[in-house]
Amino acid sequence: MAEASRRKRRRGLVALGMALAVLAPLAYLWATSLVPDDYSAMEMGYADNGGGPAHDHAAGHGVGGVSVADLRGPAGKPDVDVTVTARKGKITLASGQVIDGFTLNGTSPGPALRARVGDLVQVTLVNESVTEGATLHWHGIDVPNAEDGVAGVTQDSVAVGKRHTYRFRAVDAGTYWYHSHQVSSEQVRDGLFGTIVIDGAQPVRDVVAAIHTYDERRSINGHIGQSRHDLAAGTTVRVRVVNTDNAVIRIGLAGTTYRVVAVDGRELRGPSDVKGAGYLLPAGGRVDLEAVVPAEGMRLDAGGAATSLLIGPSGSSGPVVGMSAENVDLLSYGKAGPIGFKPDEADRRFEYRIGRRAGFLDGKPGLWWTINGKLMPDVPMYMVSEGDVVRMRITNKSGQAHPMHLHGHHAVVLSRNGVPSSGSPWWTDTLEVGDDESYEIAFVADNPGIWMDHCHNLPHAKQGLMTHLAYTGFTTPYRIGGHHHNEPE
Ligand code: C2O
Ligand code: CU
Repeated sequence: MAEASRRKRRRGLVALGMALAVLAPLAYLWATSLVPDDYSAMEMGYADNGGGPAHDHAAGHGVGGVSVADLRGPAGKPDVDVTVTARKGKITLASGQVIDGFTLNGTSPGPALRARVGDLVQVTLVNESVTEGATLHWHGIDVPNAEDGVAGVTQDSVAVGKRHTYRFRAVDAGTYWYHSHQVSSEQVRDGLFGTIVIDGAQPVRDVVAAIHTYDERRSINGHIGQSRHDLAAGTTVRVRVVNTDNAVIRIGLAGTTYRVVAVDGRELRGPSDVKGAGYLLPAGGRVDLEAVVPAEGMRLDAGGAATSLLIGPSGSSGPVVGMSAENVDLLSYGKAGPIGFKPDEADRRFEYRIGRRAGFLDGKPGLWWTINGKLMPDVPMYMVSEGDVVRMRITNKSGQAHPMHLHGHHAVVLSRNGVPSSGSPWWTDTLEVGDDESYEIAFVADNPGIWMDHCHNLPHAKQGLMTHLAYTGFTTPYRIGGHHHNEPE
């Protein structure tokens, strides 16, 4: 009897011990995953020096260093001066539907901004009623760091009743967009964005087409379904396509031969004619397609003809043909040319390995994205010094594609899956990295500050696929969380 109860007790103890053996590490993982309510981006993770000099991550940890708040745009009289008022409420889309979301100056997309190369651009964001606060980030425009619009990294989120002025010089002609970088996974989806085009010295005839899905319905410039833009036959036009959604969209011009003349605000060299092929436009990415308007019109398809923009003479009914199954491949499109620096003499070499595993993210159990095997907030902080030539290999073994976006810089693609780029220099700020793919990119660290480097499938960024490129000697006075409730993702 006594023997039996002793055995039972021993079994109980063994079970308890086993439970503890399982639970204690779990509790540890849970506890170490907690992100404080208020922290600096500089305290995140660990410094990855990429083989360069191990510098002052101490400065990185907020002690000393130049404040990114001082990296402002130039003073002077602006050439473009716009005020953009953000509101929470009903959006009336161009095609008439009314949905809940956010507007900028009463619409979504917000005002289509325009500047010319050399202009000093000034945009004042007024937050009238976005209760979570808002910012404006200039996606693809390599602005000075303090103008980058990332809540908790380069500024505090703009509260209701407050305003914030952005100033930058328009340096690189091209197609860009802007969006809130406060609670961006919700605010961008719900309408807080617009397009911005920087014209070259000789502006060209163009049509801007922002693709966005509102409430599961895909639109072009706020038109759900099919819309049209009248343009005389024979006109040479540049169609500037912007993907403001979270996933890649297959686009293309049906009914005409076209050329891919620019990607992410950078001209391609020697673009050749494309007949019928499509183009995979990453989330956050832009592409400029040039064509001559045919008599029967041509059609920009955004993921199938169901969402499309007919460009042609008034009354034209558009082409009957669609696109072929092929896609333009930028790795070999256009003509090779100089890139202006030597990636083989890189000062820093980084790995950005994307994976996925079970764990805790801020105390929540789940399957989370990893960077170099680590979960947020223990991810690498890529450290560079001004003037460094930087190489980065982005490898994706996560089971899903990720449109990777580095703020403040354009990188050139060196290779994909080990195959060197043989076409035009392919400069990008938003690069689709498919599952099982790897890209080598390179850039010159020529824009000091602290820059986000994240997936532009914005819920993925919120789920941990987010880190920073930080210049040694710079620090941020802003904090994630805190009483400004900064929440960039
Ligand atoms: Cu378009 Cu970090 O964003
Ligand atoms: Cu992603």
